[in-house]
Amino acid sequence: MSAPLSLILNPDVEHTFPPADDADEDCMSVGSEPMSPSSSNGHDMDTDSVRAQSPCLSLYSVTSSMVAEAAYKQEFGRALNNHSEVYRLPADEPELNRLRKQHTILTKVTGKYSPLMAEVMLEPDFEEPGRQKKVVDLGCGSGSWSFDVARDFPDSENIAIDLVPMQIGTMPPNCTSEVDDINLGMEHYYNHFNVAHTRLVASGVADYRKLIKQMSRMVRAGGLIDVTEWDFNAYDEWFQRIEVDTKVVCAPWWPKWLAFAKESINAFGGDINAATDLYDTVVETRNFEQVSYRDSWLPSSPWKEGDAFNIGIGQGMLEDITDFMDSGRPLLLGRGYSEEVVDTLQVNALEELKANRSRTWIRLQSVDGIKRKDVPPARAFK
Ligand SMILES: C[S@@+](CC[C@H](N)C(=O)[O-])C[C@H]1O[C@@H](n2cnc3c(N)ncnc32)[C@H](O)[C@@H]1O
Repeated sequence: MSAPLSLILNPDVEHTFPPADDADEDCMSVGSEPMSPSSSNGHDMDTDSVRAQSPCLSLYSVTSSMVAEAAYKQEFGRALNNHSEVYRLPADEPELNRLRKQHTILTKVTGKYSPLMAEVMLEPDFEEPGRQKKVVDLGCGSGSWSFDVARDFPDSENIAIDLVPMQIGTMPPNCTSEVDDINLGMEHYYNHFNVAHTRLVASGVADYRKLIKQMSRMVRAGGLIDVTEWDFNAYDEWFQRIEVDTKVVCAPWWPKWLAFAKESINAFGGDINAATDLYDTVVETRNFEQVSYRDSWLPSSPWKEGDAFNIGIGQGMLEDITDFMDSGRPLLLGRGYSEEVVDTLQVNALEELKANRSRTWIRLQSVDGIKRKDVPPARAFK
């Protein structure tokens, strides 16, 4: 970690190819394991939180050049966040554009909000009936989800937290961008929010169980936790997980690309089991009732003949995955896979998807629940 945290922006202001006689001409061996990047995220995961040891939050005003210098670093031709060594996808304009378009697709498949959202937002706060509703999005990316909430619930206050600042010019007035690494702990926001939301952040989260535990304490009695993750796997057309490894570079290419991405995320310290363990993790906190689980399936390309809805989603996903594989280059190259391996995976995966030879699904797993009213408020510090 090389830059200060809690920067709050107010809207106002070497791989070998197989020999020619190899039985499978499509394969190449990966050879030795790639280098081991530091998976340190700057703190000892045995302690509950680094921030817990130092209750002072940094808060300062910034200029745009300070933001650029503090928040970003250039790697493999892309701008990455400068705060976390765990999260390895870019934080630049092409990535934000991808996330904006992806948000539109996800909204069509999962719905805009948890089915419990409206009730929580419209009923008075359980402890302080006149209190303004406060909503947090952890790892907000483009901010699209927070912006939707800010517009649909104009009386609410929204905090959108990410490793990089959002473009403040386009933010609704009831939305604030906060730069922070959620791996460092969220104790300063305990008992603060009526809704705590996070989506697709697991690749930047060192310990997802700890994140859920902290979110359960950030939510006030009667409030909502709403979490969605994916497991970095491709599923076949019968919804069975496609199991491939990273020992050889060969078809099926899109599942293979994902296997390399997943291996890299794990090596950098991201929590690759977050989605699979999601429901149990939320239940284990014993802080929630009405806990529900949903699977959402998105076709990776428009292969689902005779299904207009999924053809549309598949077209969007093909574009999204095309850009996502570009965004994933700093992750795979940073992990130590050669450009030759990364190019081979990407070119073939794209060709497979475009030709609709990869009849695969991506699985999203969502869990939501209401904070029990008999749980005493967690103590926050400021
Ligand atoms: C794949 S994007 C998803 C963005 C958004 N949640 C969405 O669903 O559109 C993951 C986002 O989480 C952020 N992120 C990852 N790890 C984080 C961390 N430890 N602390 C704060 N933000 C993090 C990244 O910077 C990125 O913007």
